[in-house]
Amino acid sequence: TNTFTATLDVLASILPTHLRKPRVGIVCGSGLSTLASSLRDKVEVPYNSLKGFGKSTVEGHKSSLAFGLIGEGDGVPVVAMLGRFHPYEGHPLATVVYPIRVLARLGVKHLIITNAAGGLNPNLDVGSIVVIQDHLALPNLTGPLNPLFGPQPFPDYPRFLPLSDAYSVTLRRLAFLAAHSLSFPDSALQEGTYAWVSGPTYETPAEGRFLRSVGADVVGMSTVPEVVAAREEGMEVTVLSLVTNKVVIPDKPRSIKEEVKAELAGKPIPIPPTQVVSHEEVLEIGKQKAEDMRKLVTRMIELLQKQ
Ligand code: 6GU
Repeated sequence: TNTFTATLDVLASILPTHLRKPRVGIVCGSGLSTLASSLRDKVEVPYNSLKGFGKSTVEGHKSSLAFGLIGEGDGVPVVAMLGRFHPYEGHPLATVVYPIRVLARLGVKHLIITNAAGGLNPNLDVGSIVVIQDHLALPNLTGPLNPLFGPQPFPDYPRFLPLSDAYSVTLRRLAFLAAHSLSFPDSALQEGTYAWVSGPTYETPAEGRFLRSVGADVVGMSTVPEVVAAREEGMEVTVLSLVTNKVVIPDKPRSIKEEVKAELAGKPIPIPPTQVVSHEEVLEIGKQKAEDMRKLVTRMIELLQKQ
């Protein structure tokens, strides 16, 4: 809590008054930091100048807070996190969600979180954006990976936070209205459920099949801790997942037993190519579709301004 004061003091000393109280927060996922190019009067503050912030170590993630204005007239003051912290980097969950709590203390009411995710639902094309309607925190099955686990840092917060209303209906509506106003094709914006896994390994085919079978549409390694903390802080939250690749889930796993038997019988069967996801592919799609994501988030904030 002392750390919060230190962070907020530094920000107050750097920022011009009209940027000091952002109403909207944006979290920019892998390859999506170009969202910051929408900001007027932009002031960037590197994470390493802010107490309590970790060091982001993943390629494709910047490491700063960008303050600025979006929208007509005086504009809406916003703050964008360019890069985030992940548990797989070794950051404790308290560090992962620290910037979210800072945003809440700056006065952010609406939080738009973006990420890159793998598509589990076969109907989701690579490059489409999914408005998240719910999540599965699968780490709950393997351990206490929840940012609210442990002693309560703020005694006035609820011990048992409900999450049935975690994904703001108002902001989800705004996403679809923004897509319409930008004349996006119908398939460009979808809705679905996000499964959170720790990474840094991508899913095995069996894990992908499992996540799909329990109702997940996309899977990724971020966002859920931030959503939980943002809800605890009382912010309205929406999540936009960019599908950067399809999770490979063969209907029938390749059988080496069958292949060897067929080969020995003189009737070899064709060997399917092995497909693997790469971080490069994830970043490349992020780069290609960053502009759509930027337009969508910008229009959502413009619509929010008019409400
Ligand atoms: Cl396929 N899996 C996970 N866990 N995260 C991803 C992804 C896949 N693609 C982008 N991010």
